[in-house]
Amino acid sequence: MAVAAALLAVTVSAANADCSISRKPFGSIAGSKPVYLYTLTNSHGVKAEITNWGGTLVSLFTPDRNGKPGDIALGFNDLSDFQTKSPYFGSTVGRFANRIAKGHFTLDGKKYTLFLNNGPNTLHGGKVGFDKKVWSSEPVEHRKSAGLVLRYVSKDGEEGYPGTLTVRVVYTLADDDTLRIDYTASTTKDTIVNLTNHTYFNLAGEGNGTVLDHVLTVNADRYTPVDKTLIPTGELASVAGTPFDFRTPHVVGKRIDSRDNQLVIAGGYDHNFVLNKRGHELSKAAVLYCPRSGRVLSISTTEPGIQVYSGNFLDGSLTGKSGKKYLRRGALALETQDFPDAPNHPNFPSSELKPGQTLRETTVLKFSVRKD
Ligand code: GLA
Repeated sequence: MAVAAALLAVTVSAANADCSISRKPFGSIAGSKPVYLYTLTNSHGVKAEITNWGGTLVSLFTPDRNGKPGDIALGFNDLSDFQTKSPYFGSTVGRFANRIAKGHFTLDGKKYTLFLNNGPNTLHGGKVGFDKKVWSSEPVEHRKSAGLVLRYVSKDGEEGYPGTLTVRVVYTLADDDTLRIDYTASTTKDTIVNLTNHTYFNLAGEGNGTVLDHVLTVNADRYTPVDKTLIPTGELASVAGTPFDFRTPHVVGKRIDSRDNQLVIAGGYDHNFVLNKRGHELSKAAVLYCPRSGRVLSISTTEPGIQVYSGNFLDGSLTGKSGKKYLRRGALALETQDFPDAPNHPNFPSSELKPGQTLRETTVLKFSVRKD
């Protein structure tokens, strides 16, 4: 077995490349194509581990202010733990990320019904979303970057969505310390699409306490308040004078337990921010800084929104990769996306995709440190 496993591990490193990608088996699923763990590295100690199960970012090592690498993404060591316990750690989420109210939407006058997996609503694609599918995978390598191309074809009617959707997600780790995620999709019938990555970040290292001391900036003048089931009311509310004003840097924990009704409803931050944008350009969405480690994560995106989720549903019952418990608010997910429940809100940017169109979205994570 060990020999077979070793033979399966291939490295496609080009000579003298600053970045490389290698792969090894990552468990197996009966009757499915192989599941791999790909390791992408650059020359500054940034390392991303990605599996083609769910297009999942399993780990993400970046140096702290002393140059010491640490894993800043929550996750598990084993595929089986991801399959049975994961609250979307590192997942590629689709066909429709975030919530759809009561599992219903109407398109071209026809009503569609989805599986309800989150109280009265549909969350993150339904019962078996893209995060639980085995994607086909292909490594690519250039001198200054290494990439993983993931492909998945979602059949017409899968999870109740119309149209066969052909999806491609490309993770690219570059030597400028960026991890870029490019999404493309096309469809055979009018459909709705909202793709995101659901990495839970803790810039002090996964399992190292909470993110309440992290400092967050979000480039958003408005956000979308929610009802008790976390469905947007439709209002685009100003963040001014509220605990949602992250237009200048604020400590995550400073206002999280204030009596703001929106924070009470969600048990913390679990809201979509309306990014300040002119159009579909790649622009700055959020910056997260951890004073303990010095790590800075800067996120740019072409998407109109970002869900800021402060890990309110983590409760210490999950143990992560290095054997530490994942505490409540032990991570921050920063999910670049269309607005939640967009198909049921005509005033939100549309998430419809028609035959002949190609969906193109990009999100870039940039890693750096602050010395102070
Ligand atoms: C999203 C949602 C949260 C939660 C997580 C998964 O971020 O907004 O409410 O459901 O996914 O646990």
